[in-house]
Amino acid sequence: MSVARTSRLLVDVHTHVYLPRYADLLRSRTNVPRILTNSSGEERLVILKDEPSGGRPVGPQYWDRGQKLSFMDKHGIDISLVSSANPWLDFLSPSSAESAAADLNQDLEEYCSSSPAVSSEASLRRLYGFGLLPLVPGVSSSAVLESVKQISSLPHLKGLILGTRGVGKGLDDPELNPVWDAVAQAGLVVFLHPHYGVDARAWGDVDNGHVLPLALGFPFETTVAATRMILSGVFDRHPNLRLLLAHSGGALPQLSSRLASCIAHDPVVASRLKHDARYYLGKIYYDAVSYGPEEMRFTSDVISRADSYVSSETARVAADCKVGAKRMMFGTDHPFFPPLSSTEMWKSVVENLNSIDTVQGWGQQEKDSVRGGNALELFGL
Ligand code: URA
Ligand code: ZN
Repeated sequence: MSVARTSRLLVDVHTHVYLPRYADLLRSRTNVPRILTNSSGEERLVILKDEPSGGRPVGPQYWDRGQKLSFMDKHGIDISLVSSANPWLDFLSPSSAESAAADLNQDLEEYCSSSPAVSSEASLRRLYGFGLLPLVPGVSSSAVLESVKQISSLPHLKGLILGTRGVGKGLDDPELNPVWDAVAQAGLVVFLHPHYGVDARAWGDVDNGHVLPLALGFPFETTVAATRMILSGVFDRHPNLRLLLAHSGGALPQLSSRLASCIAHDPVVASRLKHDARYYLGKIYYDAVSYGPEEMRFTSDVISRADSYVSSETARVAADCKVGAKRMMFGTDHPFFPPLSSTEMWKSVVENLNSIDTVQGWGQQEKDSVRGGNALELFGL
């Protein structure tokens, strides 16, 4: 394999699909989440609680693999790590979730394994995936572990996507410890993605479309979930767990020093963790779906300084943002955020690519790493 060549590949780690089997499941439902056909004969995706404006338009770009590949071609994306979109299996009973996970993981393996090879690197396919676990209240631990086993046996699935609810009590639930263990041992990457946002009463009565839940609710949900994982000691107990946070970790980078200070002043948690909270941000991976070079630089600065917080006695060293860039990866969130009018290129993609290209302090090496090199390494491609 040509190292110089592969290091220049553009790899999308945040891109979704509703596999045909899953889209049919949503069509069969009369409650949210569902796909409905409105009075104009158009299909609409209604997946959020209190979904504004009658849901969102949905079409073949959500399930058709040819459209995923055309989108990739249009934007010069060589490889995509495709994940099922929210709300995954959260609304199913344990037995339905178990069988849906098994079927959808197999479907995604087929979707990826039969994709074309990368033209400059024939040993790589253009599509790899994140599988699904049947994480719903009441599911047995053995069924979840069986699902981890299935995903790790499917050669084109390199990780799994999950939401923030776990088996009903969130991701700091001790019941999940065997799952983190199994996932870490299998070398699968956990992609943590939001769906529920925050209490919709926070958005008031003015119709702001989907802006507030998507721009603020989603990343804040991720912030809370990842913080609860840190506080519960998940990273102390499972140091090899590889967690990828959607939307650059939401507000976690911005709030991590405040988090550390609150911990230090709270008798309930002050001595619970092995390290200062900021240390754990350097053990996590982040997509570069933040749409601005300043935000990307800030995230890489915060990740870079993490190791200097290994203990409270460690001398703080000036952060070199290049260290943090090793943990950030290009993403698009396709097929969400399509352009409102037909344009050749999607603004949501171009903005992230331009941002990567203009981060102050990142050289060509960091930019290439974030564009694709880091993903090739993390997913062992
Ligand atoms: N909206 C969603 O519902 N999911 C995403 O991943 C992005 C936008
Ligand atoms: Zn997404």
